[in-house]
Amino acid sequence: MGSSWVFADGILKGRTALVTGGGTGIGRAIAFALARAGARVAVASRKKEHLEPAAREIAERFGTATAAIEVDVRDSARVDAMVERCERELGPLDILVNNAAGNFFCPAAGMSDNAWAAVRGIDLDGTFYCSRAAGRRMIERGFGRIINVTATLHRRGFPGMAHMTAAKAGIDALTRTLAGEWAPFGVTVNAIAPGPIHTEGAARAFQLEGAPEAKDRASRWVPIGRFGRADEVADVAVFLCSSAGEWVTGAVWTIDGGEELGKLAPVMGGGG
Ligand code: NAP
Ligand code: COA
Repeated sequence: MGSSWVFADGILKGRTALVTGGGTGIGRAIAFALARAGARVAVASRKKEHLEPAAREIAERFGTATAAIEVDVRDSARVDAMVERCERELGPLDILVNNAAGNFFCPAAGMSDNAWAAVRGIDLDGTFYCSRAAGRRMIERGFGRIINVTATLHRRGFPGMAHMTAAKAGIDALTRTLAGEWAPFGVTVNAIAPGPIHTEGAARAFQLEGAPEAKDRASRWVPIGRFGRADEVADVAVFLCSSAGEWVTGAVWTIDGGEELGKLAPVMGGGG
């Protein structure tokens, strides 16, 4: 967690949150930030070894109730059971963060059915299944905050990642559609679109491991001049879940150090 904490104590006190992929990387940072803001937090993903240390550390640092729930978000029955367990252990679910994802480079022409389905299944189907399971309950109670972690690369296309770009585009569309459907019931649905954030998962997927020069090269395309940090993404999530975010729905909030503008840098005489 970084040093930029700007939120008042307890702004999410009494809330219950569930973060998929909350044991590692950006999801872990979001889970920690929500707990720091006072929420009870469940983290959910496939691997106990990711979940249990995160849940333990959250409880120790913030004294809040936590749960570590094993789930594969591609399995809708297990997703329903996850939400039920979360509510049984921590109380009615107010906040859902759909952060779980999978990714790897693979040229489209050689991509197998299973490779396509694995990434689409985790990113897009998982986001839908979790949103549906949580959304039904939130609608009944008249309150909910759903945040989908998307990306920026799919907007311009990214060779070698047909599965991920198609799935993230689907998540953006789903965000807007669910926002419209569920706004009348007090449920907001937004997305956060991070640019390059250094996490172990992304370093593996983007093959940056053992290639620090690739990271340096990439940083030159970010006008702010560096990769982002997971805690900077987490701060946006806290804002959207707080009362300050009450009138925001259907938004895709980009946090990328201006990376999408980076392509203009040489034309403008900067960067390169
Ligand atoms: P990460 O640490 O690898 O996060 C992926 C998480 O998803 C892991 O915690 C993983 O946990 C979980 N997961 C994978 N398959 C799952 C499944 N079938 N069911 C449930 N959970 C599953 O990588 P990250 O960089 O933090 O990525 C987090 C999010 O940010 C993703 O949505 C990613 O697309 C997005 N993002 C990242 C960047 C970046 O530069 N880092 C940029 C743009 C967008 P288990 O292995 O325990 O299942
Ligand atoms: N290149 C080509 N195909 C690949 C691949 C690669 N690097 N990695 C996996 N695949 C294919 C597999 O070969 C398999 O297809 P097949 O049955 O036709 O051979 C299919 O994808 C599913 O692979 P599998 O390993 O069974 O999937 P999984 O469900 O165990 O794991 C992944 C899901 C593949 C997405 C894995 O990378 C993962 O768990 N990722 C989570 C973390 C992550 O990616 N973080 C980055 C976020 S930016």
